[in-house]
Amino acid sequence: MSDFIVINKKINPFKKKILVSGDKSISIRWVLFSSLSNGISTAKNLLISEDVIAAINAIKKLGIKVKINNGVCKIFGKGMNGYNYKKNLTINAQNSGTLGRLLAGLLINTPYKIKIIGDKSLSSRDFKRISEPLSKFGAKFSLKKEKYLPLTIQGGSNLKAINYKEKRGSAQCKSSVIFGGMRSNGITKITAKKSRNHTEVLCKYLKLPIKINNKKNYDEIKVNKVKFIKPLKNYNIPSDISSSAFFIVLTALSNNSELIIKNVNVNSSRIGIITILKKMGIKIKFQNLRTYKGEKISDIKVKSPKFIKPVNCPSSLNSGAIDEFLIIFLVAAKANGISYFKKLSELNQKESPRLKWGKYILEKMGIKTITTEDSIKIFGNPDLKVNKNITIKNYLKDHRVFMTSVIAALVFGGNWKLHDKSSINTSFPNFLKIIDQIKK
Ligand code: S3P
Repeated sequence: MSDFIVINKKINPFKKKILVSGDKSISIRWVLFSSLSNGISTAKNLLISEDVIAAINAIKKLGIKVKINNGVCKIFGKGMNGYNYKKNLTINAQNSGTLGRLLAGLLINTPYKIKIIGDKSLSSRDFKRISEPLSKFGAKFSLKKEKYLPLTIQGGSNLKAINYKEKRGSAQCKSSVIFGGMRSNGITKITAKKSRNHTEVLCKYLKLPIKINNKKNYDEIKVNKVKFIKPLKNYNIPSDISSSAFFIVLTALSNNSELIIKNVNVNSSRIGIITILKKMGIKIKFQNLRTYKGEKISDIKVKSPKFIKPVNCPSSLNSGAIDEFLIIFLVAAKANGISYFKKLSELNQKESPRLKWGKYILEKMGIKTITTEDSIKIFGNPDLKVNKNITIKNYLKDHRVFMTSVIAALVFGGNWKLHDKSSINTSFPNFLKIIDQIKK
């Protein structure tokens, strides 16, 4: 079957209500925490995508039973020391940095060697950022060229708490060390630049021995050894703001359109895109805001604006929008002036070097950009109309490059051929179906 799509028609104005799939970060964390709990955890609306299936396959390999029936996922946890597996186990984290990095923390006490491997994209990403702090607990790691997958963990039995400074604003690094701390004797102290805090929210909800002190620009986290985790029963995974982002921007860049997205996780560490788009003049409202198991949830209402303002994006918003910059760049492409995004070196650490791909897509559309290693200036054009052939391929199958290109094609016009459609299966298999729902 062909793995490309062609888009050569702009979307008509729309007024719709949609529901997007479950949050990827919360889904993976729910799977990992449930695998360590004492009893049966159940979740609805778990994201069924390749990244989350990789997490389920990982815990199955570690001897944990999982059943999915009628939209409910059941995980039969056997406690903190309940993993049961043979020697020389290999776990494939596929495309998922979150899975690979969190697992490494979770497995620092393994009595046998475990190898973590991944696909081409994951194998080009930095794992030293987690093996370095995790080895301080007393586990041993070996990595290809000291930085890349495959990574082998030889766990320690007498693991000792560490002090760790997380300076990148990476939730994966922070969470990996939190898992390490849960396995180690003593109190692990983490000072972390702000990043998504789903791991901490789950720890608190589960009443695990963790203390969090939120400061203005960073968080202080203290984790003690965990002996017991109660099962995460009846967990209804909220929808993913990172998946919603594509439709928020589709609406913002369409004429006379309006969209409501139901039941979205709007954790304050994830809504950088909302703050940035509001600065650019996009009308976004949270409706029916509520708290669910420690997470904030809301319906999001978006209306297309009359015009879009450029933004000089404060870098304090970077971590809360880290997965959304490609799609935010499209909004800047239609702004009435020059937008500037800086201190974004982490963008080139993702499934593909996204700052480079952002520039590539914008320039293909005829938008001028000036980039450095970690910043981009985008010279917006409110009258932007694309009327040429554009092909997007060889982008390491980065799902967000594909989805951003689809939105660009639908709002700016032109004749687009987009390869590697199946990349959406990692995070958002329903993406094109929802596009069809909106078009109808
Ligand atoms: C994630 C953290 C972010 C994000 C990724 C999911 C998580 O990565 O880009 O898609 O679930 O913890 P970093 O922690 O590397 O910034």
